[in-house]
Amino acid sequence: MLSRMPNEHESRCLAVARLLAEEGADFLLATPSTDLYYLSGYGGEPSERLIALLLPAAGQPLLITPQFEAARLVATVPFARLLAWGETDDPIALLTEAVKASVKARPRLLVGQQTWAGTLLALRSALPEADYGSAQPVLAALRLVKSPAEVDLLRAAGGMCDRAFGRLLQQPLAGRSEREVAELLAGEMRRAGLETLSFLIVASGPNAALPHHEPGERRLTAGDAVVLDFGGTYRRYQSDITRTIVVGAPTEKLKRVHEQVRQAQEIGYRSVRPGLPAAEVDAATRQHLVAAGLGEFFIHRTGHGLGLDVHEEPYLVAGNRAPLRPGMVFSVEPGAYLPGQFGVRVEDTVVVTETGAERLNQAPRELLVVG
Ligand code: CO
Ligand code: CO
Repeated sequence: MLSRMPNEHESRCLAVARLLAEEGADFLLATPSTDLYYLSGYGGEPSERLIALLLPAAGQPLLITPQFEAARLVATVPFARLLAWGETDDPIALLTEAVKASVKARPRLLVGQQTWAGTLLALRSALPEADYGSAQPVLAALRLVKSPAEVDLLRAAGGMCDRAFGRLLQQPLAGRSEREVAELLAGEMRRAGLETLSFLIVASGPNAALPHHEPGERRLTAGDAVVLDFGGTYRRYQSDITRTIVVGAPTEKLKRVHEQVRQAQEIGYRSVRPGLPAAEVDAATRQHLVAAGLGEFFIHRTGHGLGLDVHEEPYLVAGNRAPLRPGMVFSVEPGAYLPGQFGVRVEDTVVVTETGAERLNQAPRELLVVG
């Protein structure tokens, strides 16, 4: 007998089923989110009309969908059994019946963290006897290590950021407002191939001391450090890069702080290897900045995982002893923020390889002077 090869999404659902069985859980519920996209290939936005994938520990996945979306969903998720509801039906009641039909008195149901609280609250009223838990450990365990195909998309997205940065610097920036620079950069990001823009920080002068400053009306003037932190998606996979540039000649202080942050970033990147606890990358960048007298100005963790979400596991932060594994993708982004003066951050996205790490951003990291 010929057996059909499961596609990528079906394989992920089978992996979820194995983890559910190991955890003694009966179902995982995912609603429109990056989790659902990861599991099914369906990438729609959440809305008041319930779409939900109910993955059992054993048996066929069930996809609950509004009737008018059914044709689209059956094509996208061919391995699931479809349960369509009409505009006057109660989809929560259908979901509850589906759970009760297949499982004992007290089903254990894991719910993704990106499911709307309203959906979960409605489900809890309709099915109070179930035992609810977080699906996050199961989903994070799968999403944490990227396949070679996922790494290819992340590498492509990273390269698009590099190109956008290079083209931005070919234009005069002095005298423009942060908002105008952000618009120029957004145009370059789209031209470079990014399909959606996820975030765009342009922080100049004292604003650069605020790690998540939103671009405003301040105009770039001579001597300003400018933090450019931006990313977007290519085929749904995210990118995230930061470079700090200077308008005209930098002060000695800015040159010194930038060089220390750049070195910390280099040291962090070079520390990455399989088996190293995630916290050790944070420790490596932090020790360098502490030794340089900048420890008190490095006010955030060193990095975050990146994939379908801009922030996901693993987090490079003190206390995270989880070992790095080949295929993990995360940012290495130390910074130093001097309140009221300036800030510097240098960030690359990197992937853990069998022997160390590969940067997914190649744009120059030194302090570049713009006019
Ligand atoms: Co960033
Ligand atoms: Co980042």
